[in-house]
Amino acid sequence: MNDTIISISDLTKIYTMGEIQVAALAGVSLEIEEGEFTAIMGPSGSGKSTLMNILGCLDQPTSGSYLLDGIETSELSDEQLAWVRGRKIGFVFQGFNLLARTSALEQVELPLIYSRASNRRQRALEALDAVGLGERVHHTPTELSGGQQQRVAIARALVNDPVLILADEPTGALDTKTTDEIIELFKRLNQERGITVLVVTHEPEVAVHTRRTIYLRDGLISKDERRTGRVAATPGGGDTGNGKLICPKGLLCPYAAPLSAQPDGYAVAHARAEEVGEPQ
Ligand SMILES: Nc1ncnc2c1ncn2[C@@H]1O[C@H](COP(=O)(O)OP(=O)(O)OP(=O)(O)O)[C@@H](O)[C@H]1O
Ligand SMILES: [Mg+2]
Repeated sequence: MNDTIISISDLTKIYTMGEIQVAALAGVSLEIEEGEFTAIMGPSGSGKSTLMNILGCLDQPTSGSYLLDGIETSELSDEQLAWVRGRKIGFVFQGFNLLARTSALEQVELPLIYSRASNRRQRALEALDAVGLGERVHHTPTELSGGQQQRVAIARALVNDPVLILADEPTGALDTKTTDEIIELFKRLNQERGITVLVVTHEPEVAVHTRRTIYLRDGLISKDERRTGRVAATPGGGDTGNGKLICPKGLLCPYAAPLSAQPDGYAVAHARAEEVGEPQ
């Protein structure tokens, strides 16, 4: 049995704007086990970012409890929260949040400087290598594509060996192909390193890659769905849970066959479709 990484109970976040109070989170309880790969979905304004910011120790709840890897965070000082953040959590944002005129290598070294870690250069190089940017370590953000910039941000999130990676719409600014590559990277980090990953997304094509999807509505969990069987095995493809496959454009793929009946059929069909230029 895995350890529980996230345990929140009756969490609320109330924003007061003049006379009006907005319950961005209205009493959320949730447990996430070590090694899970989870998507968070929900309409705009439903509280996804508010929840992620609290889970990432970037913000404190108004009430309720949050145990992160066994530590009760609601009782920690700002300084202690920063310590927890630096050692346990990697955060990835939609807009990459990289520093201008700073090389990929220096961006990734930064968290190690904050946590006064040793071997900084070596560890930053390893993290960049792990996200496939070993050849681009001296490039600055303007010298990198959107997908490459997000890889730098993921390397930065990874470099402190976090137990948890939180990504708030990490593919929101990327095209479909790059989205697939980034999601594939999260999936690999989850499977190979056992890092627990939570991804906020508006895109169903992203959520099909996870085993669990939590839906928020009006600051509450409206649905907590676990997928059984295989999840998408090929970048861009996904098992919708009913045996049908969806293609990278989110359409039902005309070549789809149930994965159980034709394990490699999806990849083969897509390769063929690309070869002959048929619509996918
Ligand atoms: N700093 C703030 N002050 C006041 N209200 C806020 C603040 N941050 C968020 N809210 C409100 O809290 C609610 C939840 O916002 P949140 O940003 O968590 O939504 P979201 O699900 O991430 O939406 P989106 O999909 O658009 O990113 C919204 O009604 C929003 O207006
Ligand atoms: Mg948001």
